[in-house]
Amino acid sequence: MEITEADERHIPAIQQIYAYHVLHGTATFETEPPGEAEMAARLKKVHAAGLPWLVAVDGGIVRGYCYLSLYRERCAYRFTLEDSVYVDATYQGRGIGKMLLSRAVGWAEARGFRQLVAVVGNSENTASLALHRAAGFSITGTLRSVGFKHGRWLDTVILQRTLGHGDATLPESTE
Ligand SMILES: CC(C)(COP(=O)(O)OP(=O)(O)OC[C@H]1O[C@@H](n2cnc3c(N)ncnc32)[C@H](O)[C@@H]1OP(=O)(O)O)[C@@H](O)C(=O)NCCC(=O)NCCS
Repeated sequence: MEITEADERHIPAIQQIYAYHVLHGTATFETEPPGEAEMAARLKKVHAAGLPWLVAVDGGIVRGYCYLSLYRERCAYRFTLEDSVYVDATYQGRGIGKMLLSRAVGWAEARGFRQLVAVVGNSENTASLALHRAAGFSITGTLRSVGFKHGRWLDTVILQRTLGHGDATLPESTE
């Protein structure tokens, strides 16, 4: 399994992986799968922000992906990122999510970001909660019943992980 930076060639696989989770899961609160053009635009936006979109590729086939985005776009949030990880439904539970998230954490720490946030769709998303806990995140709060999908109310669970020195030191550059 190779972890590499995504490009346009990976979009069809990324679109298919995400579409499955949009249609069948509660990790994302989207209800209509975005098409390839929209996923390409999302990839472009991540890259334009100078952030990574990683893909896990096995024998030339994308089995999962993880990207980082700004947690919020207002300036004071600039040292805080959010991760999103999706693994091909038939390849879950084989360490792919862990590999991707660990690479993303390393990337963010090396560049001076200080906090990483995960907004997990639904309290019952044991795989995502376990993935993030294993990567050093802890739960900071639960927003109760803020979503409605597949005929039921859904929570979002907010987890957070310190990167590098966290808030123990000021950032190298305050710009
Ligand atoms: C969540 C997700 C990305 C995790 O990736 P994965 O490749 O399946 O997970 P991994 O095999 O790398 O496992 C990571 C950790 O979670 C644990 N885990 C994975 N699936 C689990 C499950 N269903 N129940 C309990 N623990 C689970 C593993 O044991 C491992 O912990 P450990 O290292 O302490 O043993 C993947 O399952 C997925 O795509 N789920 C649907 C979409 C989603 O929820 N995305 C997250 C959005 S925030």
